[in-house]
Amino acid sequence: MKQYLVTGGAGFIGSNFIHYLLAKYGSEVRIVNVDKLTYAGNLDNLKDVANAPNYRFVHGDICDARLMDELVPPADVVVNFAAESHVDRSIGAPDDFIKTDIYGAFVLLEAARKYGVKKFIQISTDEVYGSILDGSFKESDRLEPSSPYSASKAGADRLAFSYFVTYGLPVVITRCSNNYGPCQFPEKLIPLFVTNALEDKSLPIYGDGKNVRDWIYVMDHCDAIDFLISHGDDGQVYNIGSGNERTNLDITGIILRELGKPESLMTWVPDRLGHDRRYSVDTAKIRALGWKPGHTFEEAMTSTIRWYRENKWWWEKLKTGEYLEFYKQNYKRDL
Ligand code: NAD
Ligand code: TYD
Repeated sequence: MKQYLVTGGAGFIGSNFIHYLLAKYGSEVRIVNVDKLTYAGNLDNLKDVANAPNYRFVHGDICDARLMDELVPPADVVVNFAAESHVDRSIGAPDDFIKTDIYGAFVLLEAARKYGVKKFIQISTDEVYGSILDGSFKESDRLEPSSPYSASKAGADRLAFSYFVTYGLPVVITRCSNNYGPCQFPEKLIPLFVTNALEDKSLPIYGDGKNVRDWIYVMDHCDAIDFLISHGDDGQVYNIGSGNERTNLDITGIILRELGKPESLMTWVPDRLGHDRRYSVDTAKIRALGWKPGHTFEEAMTSTIRWYRENKWWWEKLKTGEYLEFYKQNYKRDL
C-alpha cells in the first residue's frame, strides 16, 4: 500500500487530486491530507471521502517542523500543493506567500530529506517563467517571475531542485498552466465570473481583456501528477498544459453564452499591477514520456460551468463576510 502525504489537500487542486487517487486506486492507497484551512481551504471539498478508512485529515501548517516530523516519515510520496495561490492577493499582502510558499516548502523538504521520502513532488507553476508574447517556454528556459506569488513559487521550485542536487532527494517539479474545474475558490477568473454571472453581478475584466492563459481541466492536471509520480525522473522539471490558449475575453464570452447572460454584465476595470500578458508552456517533455490530457476544453468547460450552476450551496457561503471585505479594501469595489 502506497502512503501519500498531500499538503494543501483542502484547496482546489489538492482536493481534486485526493478524489482522483481514491477513485483510481481505492484501498491500495493511504492518504494523509495536511491543510492549514486558510480562506482557500474548504473541507466541503472532501465531504464525501471524509470517513474513508484510508483517508485522514490533519489541520496543520507546513511551516510547523514538529508536525512535519510526525507526518512525513510514514509517507512514500509527498505532494506539496500547499500555497498561497492568488496573484491579486500577493500584490496586496505578500507576507504569507513568502512564509508558506517558500519557508513551508523548505520545512517539508527538510523533513523529506531526514526521513528518506521516496518521491517528493513540488507543485510549481508555469507562472515562474513570466510572460511570453510568442512561442512557449521549455523547462530549460530561464525563470523570470513577475508577481510576489510567482516569485515565491520560483523560490520553492529552485529550492526543491537544490535538495535533489545537494542531498539526492528524489524530487520532481511540475509547472502546470491555469486550471479550471469544480471547487475552485471564487476569486480566480473562471469561478468568479461564473458565480457572478449566475448572480447577475458584473464581471470585472482587467485591462483590455486580451491576456492569454492556457486552460487545463483540473482532473487532467491530477492525472499528469499521478503519471509523473510513476514515470517522472528525479531532479527533472515537467511542464503540464493542454494547449488551450484563450484570452480572458474568450473565456468571458463562453461563460455568458453558456449561462444565457447578457454582455452588459462585462465591466472594464483598471489592470492588475504587473499583469503578465501571456503564459504558454511547451509540453513536449511530458508528452514524450507518454502523457496527454484526456479532456477537451469545450466539454470540460461546459461541465465546470454546470457544476457551479448546480452547486450553489458550495460557493454562496464563500462569497460573504471576509471575502467581500477583501475586495472592498483591495479593489475599492463590491462584487
Ligand atoms: P488553493 O488556494 O485553492 O489551495 C491552497 C491550499 O493550501 C488551501 O487548502 C490552503 O488552506 C492550504 N494552505 C495554505 N497555506 C498553508 C500552510 N501554510 N500549510 C498547510 N496548508 C496551507 O490553490 P490551488 O489552486 O489548489 O493550487 C494548489 C497548488 O497548485 C499551489 O501550489 C499552486 O501554486 C499550484 N498551481 C495552481 C494552478 C492553478 O491554476 N490554480 C496552476 C499551477 C500550479
Ligand atoms: P487568475 O484566475 O487570477 O489566474 P492567474 O492570474 O494566476 O493567471 O486570472 C486569470 C486571468 O484573468 C488573468 O489574466 C487576470 C484575469 N482576471 C480578470 O480579468 N478579472 C478578474 O476579476 C480576475 C480574478 C482575473
